[in-house]
Amino acid sequence: MEVIIKPNPEEVSREAAGLFRRQLRRKPDSVLGLATGSTPVELYRKLVAMVRCGEVSFAHATCFNLDEYAGLPADHPRSYACFMREHLFSHIRVAQWFIPDGLAKDVATHCEEYEYRIRDCGGIDLQLLGIGSDGHIGFNEPGSSLASRTRIKTLTARTVADNARFFDSAEAVPRHVITMGVGTIMEARHCLVLATGESKAAAVAAMVEGPVTASVPASALQMHPVCTLVVDEAAAKLLQRTEYYRWVYDNKPSWQRP
Ligand code: F6R
Repeated sequence: MEVIIKPNPEEVSREAAGLFRRQLRRKPDSVLGLATGSTPVELYRKLVAMVRCGEVSFAHATCFNLDEYAGLPADHPRSYACFMREHLFSHIRVAQWFIPDGLAKDVATHCEEYEYRIRDCGGIDLQLLGIGSDGHIGFNEPGSSLASRTRIKTLTARTVADNARFFDSAEAVPRHVITMGVGTIMEARHCLVLATGESKAAAVAAMVEGPVTASVPASALQMHPVCTLVVDEAAAKLLQRTEYYRWVYDNKPSWQRP
């Protein structure tokens, strides 16, 4: 896993935007996996700006979102479908975009179809991920099978509390989500994890330097052949090998840079 430590969230987003630009320039019809939450908001703002000035285009790209709240319609203001339209898709042209349907009647079949669609599009080239303070990726909460596929999951009380800021109260946060599984995420060709702020420091340390365990689903990424983690100083605070991560980054060959 490559660990890139940046001074602040702004620089984290800039690095991530560079990786998206590189991916889309190399392969304009890339299949991109996208995340919601606070962490990628600035990245999406940068991508919209890049599209507007012609630096990059999503016009041939296909996007798949990681997850959606079960029970929320796509036009609900707190749905992730709405989030994605607000922050990205109402501002740019994209060939295709998919997100799990929070109102799917037959959830199991819907999840199978979502997986099928990802495979049918050729698999995900670049998967963007945030990390929960409890170590989740997508909404694969601690204890999730590291081989799991897209399915319904119950959020932990901690994630409900973390996400209450987007709702009027914690009671209003749905308890269930439809999420890609850890196994689904692990099939992406490149995983890009972003983490900012001190509240993520323990989860980041467990993900990178702890044992691979279903108790920290993000730790499965230690087994991924091409995973990049971009963190700010605050989120890197509990990492032990920061000197080496910085050394690797400073000595990175130019052809490996975005
Ligand atoms: C969102 C998702 C989650 C978030 C994570 C961090 O689609 O899959 O795993 O990435 O909960 O959320 P923020 O960025 O709000 O701290």
